[in-house]
Amino acid sequence: MDKILGRVMTVAGSQMTVKLDADDRDQCSIGIGAMVKVCRADRQVVAAICTVQCENSSLPERLLVADLLGEIGPFGAAVSRFSRGVSQHPISGEPVLAATDADLKTIFAQTSRSSVRIGTLHRDATQAAYLLINELLRKHFAVLGTTGSGKSCAVTLLLSAIVSDYPAAHIVVIDPHNEYSRAFGQLAEVVSVDNLQLPLWLFDFEEAVGILVRGGTAQEQEAQAIILKDAITRARRRYAGAMGRLDKPDSSMPYLRLKTRLESLRYDRRFAFLFSDRLVKEDALSQIVGRLLRIPVAEKPLTVIDLSGVPSEVADVVVSLSCRLIFDFALWSERGQMPVLLVCEEAHRYVPADERIGFAATARAITRIAREGRKYGISLALISQRPSELSAQALSQCGTILALRLTNELDQRFMETVLPDAARGNLAALSSLGAQEAVVCGEGVPLPMRIRFDDLPSGRRPRSEGADFTDAWQTDAVDIHFRDEVVRRWRHQNRKRVAI
Ligand SMILES: Nc1ncnc2c1ncn2[C@@H]1O[C@H](COP(=O)(O)OP(=O)(O)OP(=O)(O)O)[C@@H](O)[C@H]1O
Ligand SMILES: [Mg+2]
Repeated sequence: MDKILGRVMTVAGSQMTVKLDADDRDQCSIGIGAMVKVCRADRQVVAAICTVQCENSSLPERLLVADLLGEIGPFGAAVSRFSRGVSQHPISGEPVLAATDADLKTIFAQTSRSSVRIGTLHRDATQAAYLLINELLRKHFAVLGTTGSGKSCAVTLLLSAIVSDYPAAHIVVIDPHNEYSRAFGQLAEVVSVDNLQLPLWLFDFEEAVGILVRGGTAQEQEAQAIILKDAITRARRRYAGAMGRLDKPDSSMPYLRLKTRLESLRYDRRFAFLFSDRLVKEDALSQIVGRLLRIPVAEKPLTVIDLSGVPSEVADVVVSLSCRLIFDFALWSERGQMPVLLVCEEAHRYVPADERIGFAATARAITRIAREGRKYGISLALISQRPSELSAQALSQCGTILALRLTNELDQRFMETVLPDAARGNLAALSSLGAQEAVVCGEGVPLPMRIRFDDLPSGRRPRSEGADFTDAWQTDAVDIHFRDEVVRRWRHQNRKRVAI
């Protein structure tokens, strides 16, 4: 027999207020986030407790407010299922019951083939937690949490589960710290500036300015930008068979600066990807896109763009261009023919809340995917340790939020604006979540839930461990050879192209 906790007092919008039975001692077990239900016709309306209040201290009449989330039903069917949304609202006076273990199993059961397991429920470690892949990817998602809370491991776990079920996926991971290549092994095509080729002609004006315009006063930089714009226009016209005119500016200084910068970049190994001879002579766009998006997949459904050790101006431009290529390719292909997931680690770096920080072209390219990508089959995953520093516009497009531990007060307050009403009950838990724990809410899950991600075996974790100081400091293991080798590699990076 289900336990009656109290009776419905009022129902307003998507919430109901419940008057708890005064004499029931077990009520102290009622907590924020616990599930209750009300029977209506042939189904049960499910709600999550979001507030528990004492109305009057002299008369301990306790009320609770619960968010109406969905329905289990219909009664008598061979299999009863949970569905979101409430078609029949509870009525005043109806008994409110605690949801049973069987109810919770129905609510959190694997509802379709297209869901993947990511962990277990916090309240019942025997109950698996699933993400609904289509719902998760159709409306973008965000993984947010303090540094070390387990974001990269969570992303690895999720992507591994996706590619094991969907081996012909197209997933591009922007990886600023070279964490993911180890985690995915043979399943990933690792693209780094060592083996990347992006011809200069692919760059738009702003990206070209971002790479080439350096030094001098603001006025001089503007003059350099004008020269560059003219040069690009002229080159493009010439390429198209028509000549353009170039009006010479007053001083030759901006020309010299641009020329010097171009020359120095040509011999900088970190920029070698821009100046490959093959790229200058051939139209390699199709191959570039093919490699970036894995067409054909050829058993490598992931592309990891490794940006570690790359100067920020290079990283910014590579990200900007990659995002633009992904978007344009989707735009010109049949809608939904080849869905792509773009995972953006350290997203606050590329789409910052403060538009003055970061590289405008990158922010624009990612924001465009956040805003319009859904229509063209591009899904975006924003990963960040500082949600309050992440563009609210981009974050607001995320239909599912996976929030791990968040200790910063500003970030916690920011989450109040991001989490949907139904998940607010879990807000207080964010600062005290353990490692690998998360509150997940939105389209990708049947209901907001607190989960613990499954353990990733050590060989499949991203390369994100901190240094083991106490171990490393036991013995004097680093010698002159180590020192010389590091210096050699350091030098080599700048000199390699000159030496060839
Ligand atoms: N699901 C998991 N399975 C196994 N270990 C985990 C898991 N989640 C977290 N860890 C442990 O926690 C450490 C930190 O996790 P992770 O690198 O994913 O954090 P992060 O939130 O991405 O940090 P940062 O913001 O610094 O990138 C890992 O090195 C690993 O030891
Ligand atoms: Mg990480």
